[in-house]
Amino acid sequence: MKDRLEALAKHAREEITAAQDAERVEALRVKYLGRKGELSAALGGMGKLSPDERRALGEVANRVKAEVEQLLAAAVARVEDTRLEAELRGPKVDVTLPGRAQVLGKRHPVSRTLEDIVRVFSRMGFDVASGPELELDYFNFEALNIPKDHPARDMQDTFYVDASWLAAPPPSPVLLRTHTSPVQIRTMLGRRPPVRIVAPGRVYRRDSDLTHTPMFHQVEGLWVDKGVTFAELKGTLDAFVRAFFGEQTRTRFRPSFFPFTEPSAEVDISCVICRGKGCRVCKGGGWLEVLGAGMVHPNVFTAVGYDPAEVTGYAFGLGVERIAMLRFRIDDLRLMFENDVRMIEQL
Ligand code: DAH
Repeated sequence: MKDRLEALAKHAREEITAAQDAERVEALRVKYLGRKGELSAALGGMGKLSPDERRALGEVANRVKAEVEQLLAAAVARVEDTRLEAELRGPKVDVTLPGRAQVLGKRHPVSRTLEDIVRVFSRMGFDVASGPELELDYFNFEALNIPKDHPARDMQDTFYVDASWLAAPPPSPVLLRTHTSPVQIRTMLGRRPPVRIVAPGRVYRRDSDLTHTPMFHQVEGLWVDKGVTFAELKGTLDAFVRAFFGEQTRTRFRPSFFPFTEPSAEVDISCVICRGKGCRVCKGGGWLEVLGAGMVHPNVFTAVGYDPAEVTGYAFGLGVERIAMLRFRIDDLRLMFENDVRMIEQL
């Protein structure tokens, strides 16, 4: 039996040192050390031996087993090294090929415009406020003095959201806000005058054609304090327009109507393309409408618990896409939302 073990060791030595790959090494492990392998087979008749013979044979068997294990470990390391070397030498990765250029993302013109608008107002002392896009009818309409029969409340214009399935249905209908003006209400409910905020964000309307998208952006402005006047509204918006579009840009206030302001105005700027001479963009008129504004209506103050005899304020709302289009000279609103990087890169 001892001879058989020595023969086994010799044979294993030869085979294992000659092995070329990991599969062969593993096959040899099974062949020699496996449960039904040669070592077990060689020790098969051990039961019949005397205790002394068995001990002597056990020593040899342990030595052979240790040697075979060592040979296998060395073989594993060797074939792995060979494999790695072959991979490095091989043609799999050609490090001399030129790299493939990654297309880098760019800041969207709407985001850039939004941030720039907010930055100008921040410098003039406005805080930034925000409110939810999923809004209550109460904040979006009711508290803003927009009466029940106002056309803006029509299902045709507003995305209403079914909230009837909620365990605790909200106190007023739920909708996607149609303007950023509800942030005025939420802000005033949360603090006492003076209040001086701009509120940028997304708004939603059931509109989709060449010049309207169902989602767009607005920046709301609100300044409330004792003795705020329409002259300050004009001065602030004029300063904003000059900071944003350039010192030569002029503003024009036209009388208008909004339920939440009285008096109300629509504000035009002199055409940034033709500087007022008249062109295709301003349809020959020389002026572009960019925002709505006015003095906060007393009913709005009452709704938030401010005393209209004590404070006055102005508010304004501007459309960000419109301003972005003017700033970047884009003449098709749809380009804003197709998000073609090639277009965004040109700006
Ligand atoms: N909320 C108006 C709209 O979406 C814009 C607006 C007009 C906001 C006048 C105001 C304002 O704060 O005073 O059309």
